[in-house]
Amino acid sequence: MNITNQHLLKNNLLKTKQITEDTLGEGKLIEGDILNVLDKIDDDVITVGITSPPYNKQEKQKGWLVKNVVYDVYKDAVPEPEYQQNQVNVLNEIYRVTAPGGSFFYNHKIRWDRGTMYHPIDWLRKTKWTLKQEIIWDRVIAANIRGWRFWQVEERIYWLYKPIGNYLIGKELKSADAKLTSIWRGAPEDGRKNPHPAPFPLWLPARVIISIVDTETQGIVLDPYMGSGTTAVAAKLLGHRYIGIDRSDTYLKMTSDRLDNAASEMPKIQAEIALHNVQTTAKERTSKGKHKGKYRPTDDDGKPTQLSML
Ligand SMILES: C[S@@+](CC[C@H](N)C(=O)[O-])C[C@H]1O[C@@H](n2cnc3c(N)ncnc32)[C@H](O)[C@@H]1O
Repeated sequence: MNITNQHLLKNNLLKTKQITEDTLGEGKLIEGDILNVLDKIDDDVITVGITSPPYNKQEKQKGWLVKNVVYDVYKDAVPEPEYQQNQVNVLNEIYRVTAPGGSFFYNHKIRWDRGTMYHPIDWLRKTKWTLKQEIIWDRVIAANIRGWRFWQVEERIYWLYKPIGNYLIGKELKSADAKLTSIWRGAPEDGRKNPHPAPFPLWLPARVIISIVDTETQGIVLDPYMGSGTTAVAAKLLGHRYIGIDRSDTYLKMTSDRLDNAASEMPKIQAEIALHNVQTTAKERTSKGKHKGKYRPTDDDGKPTQLSML
C-alpha cells in the first residue's frame, strides 16, 4: 500500500515499520491500540514527543468542580500492576522509535488508592529512558475536593531522554528556553472550547517543541495518546511533521478537522513563542530584581551565591 499521501490511517492496514521518514508526508493520524500502532513505526525516527496517557483513575464520581473523565472507547480502569507494566512497555516502544538525542515528555500525576501512593517514578525507572527532569505543571485548578490531603492542583511532566552512546547529559537548552523554569503554570483547556474530556492546553506541547527542536530543523513530533490532536496542531503550526495515535475514531476525526483549521489557533502559538524570545539583558533583569539565569544565582546584592549543578 502506498501511504505517502494518506493522512488518516488504520492500524490493521499497515505493515510493521511501514511508517518511515519517507512515507510520513506532512504527518499521519493512525487509529488503533498504541502498542500495535507503534510497531508500525520505523526505529529512530521521532525527534520529540509529548503525551498524556489515561491515568487509570478508576473514577466512579468526581468532585464538584470538574466532571468525571469519560473517554469515547476506553474505560480507564485496569488493575494497577497491569497498568504500570503496560506503561513500561509503551514507553520502551516509544524509546525504540525515538532518534538518539531525542526526547519524550510524559505527563502524569501522583495518585492514591486507599492510602497507597502511586508515583510515576515507580514505573519510569523501569524503562530504558534516561530521566532528565521532573517538571511541575501547576494547573491552578483541579477537581479533588476531599480533605484527606492538601488540594492537589499540580501534575508532573517527565522529560525523558534517549542518549547518544553513553553520554547521558545531552546538549543544553538555549538560554531563553532554560529560563522558563521547571514550574509551568497554566490552567487546563476550557472544556467548552474542546469537547475531548482531557485535552492539553495548546501552549504545553508548543513549549516542548519550541524548546527542544532547533528552528532550522524540521522535526517529527509524536503524540501516541493524541486525543483531540493538540500536539499535532502545535507541531503543524511550528512547521514540523507529526504522528498521532488514538484508538478512538471520533478523536481522530476531531484532530483532522482541527488540523484543517489550525491557522485559527496561531495566536496561542505566537503567545508561547514570545515567552521564548526574552530580549532583556542580565543587567536589566537584575535591576528589576528578576531571575538572572540558570548558572549564577545571586544574593540580594546581585552577587553570585553558587554555581548550579548540571
Ligand atoms: C488524556 S487523553 C489525551 C488528550 C490529548 N493530550 C489532547 O490534547 O486532546 C488520552 C487519550 O488516549 C486514548 N487512548 C487510551 N488508551 C489507548 C490505547 N491503548 N491506544 C491508543 N489510544 C488510547 C484515549 O482515547 C484518549 O483520547
